[in-house]
Amino acid sequence: MRKLIHILALPVLALFTHCTGIDTPAGEKHYAIIPAPVSLTPATGEFIFTPMTKITVNELTDETRLAADFLAGMVNRVSEFTLKVSEGSSTAGGRVAMFIDDSAGTGAEGYQMSVKRNKIIIKAETAAGLFHAVQTIRQLLPHGIESPAPVENIRLAVPACEITDNPRFVYRGMHLDVARHMFPVEYIKRYIDMLALHKMNYFHWHLTEDQGWRIEIIKYPLLTEVGAFRKETLIGHGGRPPFEFDGKPYGGYYTQDEVRDIVEYARQRFITVIPEIEMPGHSVAALAAYPDLSCTGGPFEVVTRWGVFDDVFCAGKEETFRFLQDVLDEVTELFPSQYIHIGGDECPKTRWKVCPDCQQRIKDEGLADEHELQSYFIKRMENYLLTKNRRIIGWDEILEGGLAPQATVMSWRGISGGIAAAKMGHDVIMTPGSHLYLDHYQTEPDGEPLAIGGYSPLEWVYSYEPIPQELTSDEQKYILGLQGNLWAEYLKTPDHMEYMAYPRMFAIAETGWTPSASKDFEGFLARFLYQQPRYDLSGINYFKGDYRNTRGRTR
Ligand code: ACM
Ligand code: ZN
Repeated sequence: MRKLIHILALPVLALFTHCTGIDTPAGEKHYAIIPAPVSLTPATGEFIFTPMTKITVNELTDETRLAADFLAGMVNRVSEFTLKVSEGSSTAGGRVAMFIDDSAGTGAEGYQMSVKRNKIIIKAETAAGLFHAVQTIRQLLPHGIESPAPVENIRLAVPACEITDNPRFVYRGMHLDVARHMFPVEYIKRYIDMLALHKMNYFHWHLTEDQGWRIEIIKYPLLTEVGAFRKETLIGHGGRPPFEFDGKPYGGYYTQDEVRDIVEYARQRFITVIPEIEMPGHSVAALAAYPDLSCTGGPFEVVTRWGVFDDVFCAGKEETFRFLQDVLDEVTELFPSQYIHIGGDECPKTRWKVCPDCQQRIKDEGLADEHELQSYFIKRMENYLLTKNRRIIGWDEILEGGLAPQATVMSWRGISGGIAAAKMGHDVIMTPGSHLYLDHYQTEPDGEPLAIGGYSPLEWVYSYEPIPQELTSDEQKYILGLQGNLWAEYLKTPDHMEYMAYPRMFAIAETGWTPSASKDFEGFLARFLYQQPRYDLSGINYFKGDYRNTRGRTR
């Protein structure tokens, strides 16, 4: 098998002359797949979809049907064909034949695909593998395949090749903060579709914050009636006073029906939605609705500026735990995810230090200090979720005061939390602010809309290596993968959210999937530039500017 880097060099030479058309010119071949597959060998000829093309699966189940239907739906939409999926094991010509094959050796998400003139044969151990193969076909088809409407005379050609592919990491995620600013369901779905196109498998949905509670909880209606709305929002950069506000009420939330719709949309794309319900900190919006859950009793207002705030859930009162368990009862009903994110970051201990209830709890439980009280809090929520067969993820602060026994750690304050957790035998997801915080500028700050700060151009994000050198090979196994985080303090519009997300999300997808030895920024950039008309047709907004690390960031 030839190495990927070599085969990609060939088509890339011819890429730039034809990158604006809706259709790939006949006779030209492009293997501009993001993330780059483990191995791809080009071949002669191409497979062309016709109204007679069959799409078959040897074992047609609800899950395999998702993969096959995605392919049929995509082709039918742009061509007005009426291809249908059927069960079958024939490998005769004129078809895309998918096989679930336990002995394919492709792993939990990989696939093998052979594209010939008269047929495409796909083998995978799982439906997820078949789905990823379909996303590869999607990227090999002309850009016009992304068109929301039929494209006249579209030539649905897939260049011949042999592909063997599977992901480097089991966790390839993106986070989205909808609490500081929220985005319409339609945009959340498009975000999920971009995850699917790039073979990512987790969407971490950050639903609660000081500035807004964004998920309907039936048992506690004030969470959204009160907690989902703030009276105004800070103008400009939120560092220090004097603060200036816009005077405009802001708010909203996702109903449980909308949540179910999004979770189902993701499921159909083999993406797990992990909800995040923040505790004990970043909880002022909840406290504005239910002030008795705080140490002081309030009153509170939903916060109108950015930062870390002293009022947090009281860790002494039983009421707090009853409330959070009730909330998680509804959350776990809505989200089938094994993982539930319970936050745990940036929780000041100011109130707990002087709260009689919190101090009593410290005494009763024999805890050393307020850090151990936070640890008590998180462990108690972990235990509750374990009774429902769910596991917690927390930000790396959950290491302080003792890690909950089965917690997975998201390392965001650099990578040291991830290293410490892996050395303790805990699973880790790497999300270091240094490389994977997409709220940072991606070019010269004066050329961009207001962001939180930093400088993380595409090349820099792409350069991130998730496995720290400090870990032994045994410890490295605890690094499940990586995730990009998109915080929304400065993302006032869906357009701006997309501008920050893309194309840096695609670089993170490649780091999560492609073997590190095959990664190559110039090759990645050429594939992205070639695929720009595809992204244009999909309707997303994305950053168009200097993708290179021209300011020479090194650390
Ligand atoms: C975080 O950025 N506070 C996890
Ligand atoms: Zn308290």
